[in-house]
Amino acid sequence: MSFTVAIDGPAAAGKGTISKAVAAHFGFAHLDTGLLYRAVGAKVLAGSEPIAAAQGLLAEDLDAGDLRTPDAAQAASKVAVIPEVRAALVDFQRSFARRAGGAVLDGRDIGTVICPDAEVKLFVTASAEVRAERRYLELDANGHDVSRAEVLADVKARDERDMNRAEAPLKPAEDAIVVDTSGMAIEAAVSAAVDVISKARG
Ligand code: DC
Repeated sequence: MSFTVAIDGPAAAGKGTISKAVAAHFGFAHLDTGLLYRAVGAKVLAGSEPIAAAQGLLAEDLDAGDLRTPDAAQAASKVAVIPEVRAALVDFQRSFARRAGGAVLDGRDIGTVICPDAEVKLFVTASAEVRAERRYLELDANGHDVSRAEVLADVKARDERDMNRAEAPLKPAEDAIVVDTSGMAIEAAVSAAVDVISKARG
């Protein structure tokens, strides 16, 4: 039996933490779809052509180097506007979503485009300032030399690009439940998500 949980939202809203926690709670598999775009972005930074990079993407590319850098994030957001890049990644995401035993996918367009029939759709968001502060603390803790102002500018640039692209823009699905984590501890956001999923599983 498959059961798909789609978790979308802007950068650093808490999607990753919530997705990992609910996947562990219910024993579902988890796919961070941002990694697919980051891996394509990293290949482009290394000199590849974006569409060929997406079409030739291999599982091991997802483990390559540090895909969590601000440069990889910006490169990901840039390749993500190209319709052929998005198209090349659709089948992999859809088959992951329907694997037996349940799956959580987090990204930007999971509830709207990749899995419009997902059993649960969450849209996790927070203000740009709160998200930038979280991302700054994360990058700083991992030894990246960045300033708060740079991180806020990066978050806003990605929001702008992700929300305004023609193909699969970032927006909540009509039937998504919106969780605003701005004033919420992450544990509270995780339990809200667990509650919604438990109810949907019946
Ligand atoms: O979730 P993330 O920060 O790792 O995503 C990096 C970029 O990849 C993001 O700015 C836009 C793109 N992306 C996308 O277009 N669609 C997805 N489902 C996931 C990520």
